[in-house]
Amino acid sequence: MSAFPYLPLDAKGWRLHMGLRPLDASHWLEVDAQYGEEIALKNELLATHRAAVVATRSEGDEASKELLRLIVEDLRVHHPALPIALNASEHPIIQASRLVQEDLCVLVRDSAWRLVAACVCFPSRWDLATKIGTTLDDIHAPVPGYADALAQPTISFFDRLKPERSFWRLNWTLLDDAALFQPRRISLGRSNNLDDWFLRVERQTLRRLEMTGAIVFTIRTYVTSVSRLRDDHDDVAVNLLRALDTASSELQQYKGWVGVADQLRDALP
Ligand code: HEM
Repeated sequence: MSAFPYLPLDAKGWRLHMGLRPLDASHWLEVDAQYGEEIALKNELLATHRAAVVATRSEGDEASKELLRLIVEDLRVHHPALPIALNASEHPIIQASRLVQEDLCVLVRDSAWRLVAACVCFPSRWDLATKIGTTLDDIHAPVPGYADALAQPTISFFDRLKPERSFWRLNWTLLDDAALFQPRRISLGRSNNLDDWFLRVERQTLRRLEMTGAIVFTIRTYVTSVSRLRDDHDDVAVNLLRALDTASSELQQYKGWVGVADQLRDALP
């Protein structure tokens, strides 16, 4: 298996920040060795859990069509070996989602930026059905500190985003389950075995569509066990513990991390 692609842990401890970086246009979508497996899982979830993984509003239909065209074009240019099979009877965001490992969200602006179409097969303990049709502020209401520190900068960023200049950022969390499909917020288990803990990193991209002016938010999810990471990186354990120890108690509560640092400490030699 290849090395874990993103490791957003450092010695500085936990911090809530936008962390946006300019995106190289030739590196919008990431395709790797898990492609076949993840697309098969998406197809299965779309068959068995459709209402949990897809949500659309008519206001997002045009933008979803534009997104599908863009994804097909991007794959043809940057990943020409991938097969592109479309089923025109499906909503364009579902067709687009079946082609890529990323989860896809479309937001449009009325009085606020609003989520109007999404296919999210790999949610990190949130429920798409409760977010569709809501604004950036409402989507992030459960996130401690977001309203004070990130809400306004995020709206300004969305308003200024240009089609020719896209961005990406990372989010990460520590969970007790490696599954990609985790739609429910449940409390974390208890274990002092590092094999039972998983770092879950989301590579998120933000891109303004040229024709409709909608914004596309992609989420690519990578998961690995903490024990495996620790074998490859000397400083992972210490940086992870530092992040858990420096997160506010509200954030620890939100993430389900209360008491987890002590268990990890026990698990470390
Ligand atoms: C610059 C843009 C954005 C920033 C800075 C941002 C920031 C954040 C942060 C800090 C969290 C907490 C995650 C954690 O640490 O576990 C979060 C959660 C989340 N974000 Fe964003 N986000 C952005 C855009 C979006 C967009 C466009 C969506 C659209 C779907 C979105 C959906 C969510 C959801 C669903 C959660 C989980 C909320 C929950 O627990 O109910 N984010 N975001």
